[in-house]
Amino acid sequence: MAEIQPFQVMEIWNRAKELEAQGRHIVQMQIGEPDFTAPDPVIAACIEALKQNPIHYTSALGMPRLRHAISLHYRERYHLEVPVSRIAVTAGASGALLIAAGVLVNPGDEILMPDPAYPCNRHFVRFFEGRVNSIPVGPQTQYQLTRELIEANWSEKTRGVLIASPSNPTGTMIAPDEMRAIIEAVQARGGVTIVDEIYQGLTYASDFASALAHSDRIFVVNSFSKYFSMTGWRLGWLVMPEECVREVETFAQNAFICPSAPAQYAGIAAFCAETTATLEQRRGEFKRRRDFLVPALRELGFSIPVTPEGAFYIYAGIERFSADSGKFALNLLEEAGVAITPGKDFGMNQAERYVRFAYTRSLADLEEGVRRLRKFLAG
Ligand SMILES: Cc1ncc(COP(=O)(O)O)c(C=O)c1O
Repeated sequence: MAEIQPFQVMEIWNRAKELEAQGRHIVQMQIGEPDFTAPDPVIAACIEALKQNPIHYTSALGMPRLRHAISLHYRERYHLEVPVSRIAVTAGASGALLIAAGVLVNPGDEILMPDPAYPCNRHFVRFFEGRVNSIPVGPQTQYQLTRELIEANWSEKTRGVLIASPSNPTGTMIAPDEMRAIIEAVQARGGVTIVDEIYQGLTYASDFASALAHSDRIFVVNSFSKYFSMTGWRLGWLVMPEECVREVETFAQNAFICPSAPAQYAGIAAFCAETTATLEQRRGEFKRRRDFLVPALRELGFSIPVTPEGAFYIYAGIERFSADSGKFALNLLEEAGVAITPGKDFGMNQAERYVRFAYTRSLADLEEGVRRLRKFLAG
């Protein structure tokens, strides 16, 4: 545990809550979850299931009906054939990432990841005595790993690569050609690619095909938390190569017995037409927020060299204002009542120069946040 850091964004959240309890109004721009609640059909399906069904353990890989619904989702929305047998329902993307690390990482194995990246990932690898080689990435590569970077950093200990598209904290994506090149390079070296697609569906230029379009021998992580606005339900899924199904099942049985049954009943309704209509409206709302906030922050002097295309984050450079993003975020919270996340939550690579804004609050809140920022920076 000495090597596992606390989740800093939660600490800022705690401080923001303390200030709110003292009567301060805080503009929350640090939270990585949608302000929307689960769509009505999802809630109705859960209530109905509680009334009609005994809530017992399910299969460790998830209820067949939900696994079918996920497979159908890939076919109808992304024109991809993903057999039900390769889909495991999990306790959020977190459960999927833990399982993937558990079945893939042996002591001493190395996993390549970009820096900055989602903070928990390096810890998942550490849990299984592996180590992460965090490769610094910047605006030149959209803050993402490339085939060249992977080839240059591959060693005989490297077991694989973990990437996210769109990414947290940068909201940037890996172009389809690059994704294919990465998967091919990793496979040529006998390694395994894990792609975290938790922000699938939350893209604002075009919908993107899953990395599963390039190979059926990769691991893909997904979740009901973000696009489906179901963070607290703790539901996600993992797509795995056919030959790993038995190991994933064994791991999942031991670690979890099964994913939450009420959440699984609800998850089936996450793909119905009414839910999709609601979620697409919300996607439009996120796009409006991004289209407001990116130019507003640039105008205030934050550097945003790559326009984020997905998720709901903006990774902004603060070099015009401060050389210490932790202090900057804390001062901003205490003095102006705006909560953001300092870069150090996401790695070591120039973390002092960056902060992350989340646009998971209403446009009116974001406008108020920008007003407060302007005043704070002028003072
Ligand atoms: C990139 C990424 N992966 C995984 C997760 C975990 O999400 P969950 O377990 O709620 O599905 C998050 C949460 O913010 C994330 O940003």
